[in-house]
Amino acid sequence: MSLDLQLSGKTAIVTGGSAGIGLAIAKALYSEGVNVAIAARNPERLENAVSAIQSLPTPGAKVISISADLTEAESVERVVSTTLAQFGKIDILINNAGSARAGSFLELSDDAFVDAWNLKLLGYIRLVRAVVPHLKSRRDGRIVNIIGGAGRT
Ligand SMILES: NC(=O)c1ccc[n+]([C@@H]2O[C@H](COP(=O)([O-])OP(=O)(O)OC[C@H]3O[C@@H](n4cnc5c(N)ncnc54)[C@H](OP(=O)(O)O)[C@@H]3O)[C@@H](O)[C@H]2O)c1
Repeated sequence: MSLDLQLSGKTAIVTGGSAGIGLAIAKALYSEGVNVAIAARNPERLENAVSAIQSLPTPGAKVISISADLTEAESVERVVSTTLAQFGKIDILINNAGSARAGSFLELSDDAFVDAWNLKLLGYIRLVRAVVPHLKSRRDGRIVNIIGGAGRT
């Protein structure tokens, strides 16, 4: 017996959707009939991910890739505008890209903190700010922020 999650026809942005957990999420959403925009930096890895996703059965979903470095504010805006141009709406944001460098608080370099700040904190915040007006206008939507233990330590 299958469970209808009632996701069919929705649109999701999955950051870091070209590998690992993000790719697994993108595949699962696509299989449920969700139109998916995956965003990450490396175009070749993105294209491979699109092919892998498109090889799955779906009740009519589409997948697009957007090459973007999500530490940059301009990239965040582009991910949102491209998704809207392609699919006309946004229902789901999965903030997942990258990972903070793990290590001891006392030993990590300034660069490690700045990188984590720009991607895992500010990058996530910028995407939430860019997406929320669209969720509000539809009076519906979901945002999932994925972080790891490194963020806490
Ligand atoms: N794996 C674990 O054991 C684990 C444990 C706890 C939490 N997490 C969390 O789960 C999430 C995913 O982890 P993962 O292990 O699946 O990571 P992963 O396999 O290393 O994949 C990271 C993804 O993020 C993209 N990415 C990295 N930097 C980016 C940037 N500046 N802009 C845009 N995209 C970027 C990567 O593509 P490009 O490099 O091409 O940009 C890739 O698609 C992270 O938030 C991590 O903190 C993971």
